[in-house]
Amino acid sequence: MTHEFDRVLARYNQRVRDEAVVQHDLPIANFRARRDEFLLPIGEEVGWFLRALIIARGAKTIVELGTSYGYSTLFLADAARVTGGVVHTLDIAADKQAYARTQMEHAGLCAYVAWRPGDALKSLQAIKGPIDFVLVDLWKELYVPCLELILPKMSDNGVIAADNMLFPAFSRPDSEVYRAAVKSKPELQSMLLPIGSGIELSCVWR
Ligand SMILES: C[S@@+](CC[C@H](N)C(=O)[O-])C[C@H]1O[C@@H](n2cnc3c(N)ncnc32)[C@H](O)[C@@H]1O
Repeated sequence: MTHEFDRVLARYNQRVRDEAVVQHDLPIANFRARRDEFLLPIGEEVGWFLRALIIARGAKTIVELGTSYGYSTLFLADAARVTGGVVHTLDIAADKQAYARTQMEHAGLCAYVAWRPGDALKSLQAIKGPIDFVLVDLWKELYVPCLELILPKMSDNGVIAADNMLFPAFSRPDSEVYRAAVKSKPELQSMLLPIGSGIELSCVWR
């Protein structure tokens, strides 16, 4: 990591703390209505874990489903810098990606990111495999349709990490559907990791 990475992460973490104050008393309906204002980040523990995992596996083709404002992109892009890879990051909100891009410029990591604005279900069709690592972290009802699109493109020892399996509680019905879907795939070996908001880690085993 560089000083630039540290500075960008510190700014993100300050924004996370500020947003937590705003979100604290927000009823769920209001939170949903305002969700595009917030980072909705994977959090630092998961960020470091995914970075280490990508580096340990030497993953080069990395796909991020759900850039948001770039918190998770920071960790994935820094891992790509180490492995000599690239992060294809997808989000339907172009304004959020623009913010993320500015942060990656500040962190000196833009060379490791391919920005793919638009609907992930469309953008995914343009991404060539084999894909070595995927972070699934967009709206929860899209997890299974995205899984169906990415699985045929995964490399033989690829890894899929899906966020929000445990929290927030209102996402649990969708998380359960996703967990059942990965468990039904004979080529995936999956486990639930109780870190951050809960990560379902699925390793391709062909
Ligand atoms: C939970 S946030 C991602 C947080 C991010 N991974 C992080 O840790 O900083 C989910 C993101 O999915 C994006 N999203 C929702 N539907 C989408 C779609 N159909 N295609 C692409 N992105 C989508 C939203 O705009 C939102 O920014």
